[in-house]
Amino acid sequence: MLVRPHELFAKAFNMQYALGAFNTSNLELTQAIIRAAEKTKSPVIVQTSTGAVEYAGVNTIAGIVRSLAEEYSVPVVLHLDHGHSFEEIKACIEAGYTSVMIDASAKKFEENVRITNEVVNYAHERGVWVEAEIGALLGAEGAKGLGGMRTPDDMLTGADEARKLVEATGVDSLAVAVGTIHGAFTGQEYIRFERLVEIENLLPNTPLVLHGASGLASKHLEEAAATNVCKVNIDTELRIAFEEAIREYMKSSHEKVDPRDMLGLARDAVQVVVEEKIKVFGSVGKA
Ligand code: G3H
Ligand code: ZN
Repeated sequence: MLVRPHELFAKAFNMQYALGAFNTSNLELTQAIIRAAEKTKSPVIVQTSTGAVEYAGVNTIAGIVRSLAEEYSVPVVLHLDHGHSFEEIKACIEAGYTSVMIDASAKKFEENVRITNEVVNYAHERGVWVEAEIGALLGAEGAKGLGGMRTPDDMLTGADEARKLVEATGVDSLAVAVGTIHGAFTGQEYIRFERLVEIENLLPNTPLVLHGASGLASKHLEEAAATNVCKVNIDTELRIAFEEAIREYMKSSHEKVDPRDMLGLARDAVQVVVEEKIKVFGSVGKA
């Protein structure tokens, strides 16, 4: 069932587990995510990047998630991941998203506060949850490496800036850069727990969000889920499972030509990964 995230975050915060937030851009990924949540009796966040919204169309992708969510009993949040402008966010809220992220982290601090405030005012009047970001994560959606880019330590979230952003905007949750990388598996990717603790000390009541969690060891994810990190984003590992299943299918001999055979296998492979992550995040049975 499609829900607003407020109660889910409150429970995750108090019981020290994390909600898995998984990216979708089509029917099969959405089925995989929601079926995994149903099987594990876990609440789940289904999120779309702005690229996914462009690919599918905002009403189409929102329609897929909303109608699938209504077919199952577990709570499902529909979230916009890395929204960059007020207009994008407004369109998603109109299409029925119950949660949005405004990512103005690449802007100067004052500009980040201004844009985040504009979104918070609009979203909160409509009962929609808002996630903001401070600090910067390396990497790109779905990328398997970083090329010659800098290390995550250059861009960690400063605890004091994090506190100031939350105080100036009244945002509901905050994405922080604590060492993870979007989409990459570089060996440099691990959580700087000392920084996470500094942020938590200054923001003891704010649910934190961990982006770029693909490729992290399960024991680090478990440890993070037991802190104030209440939402963990996974995208690239789902893409990899999807693609690998399709490669396997292409290698096999199949006489019948039917996209459902190929996409169904990819969907089932993604579901396995989502179930594994949900177990690691500790949200099994919390629906
Ligand atoms: O916003 C989405 C994510 O932060 C996903 O990162 O591709 O490394 O799992 P990932
Ligand atoms: Zn992200």
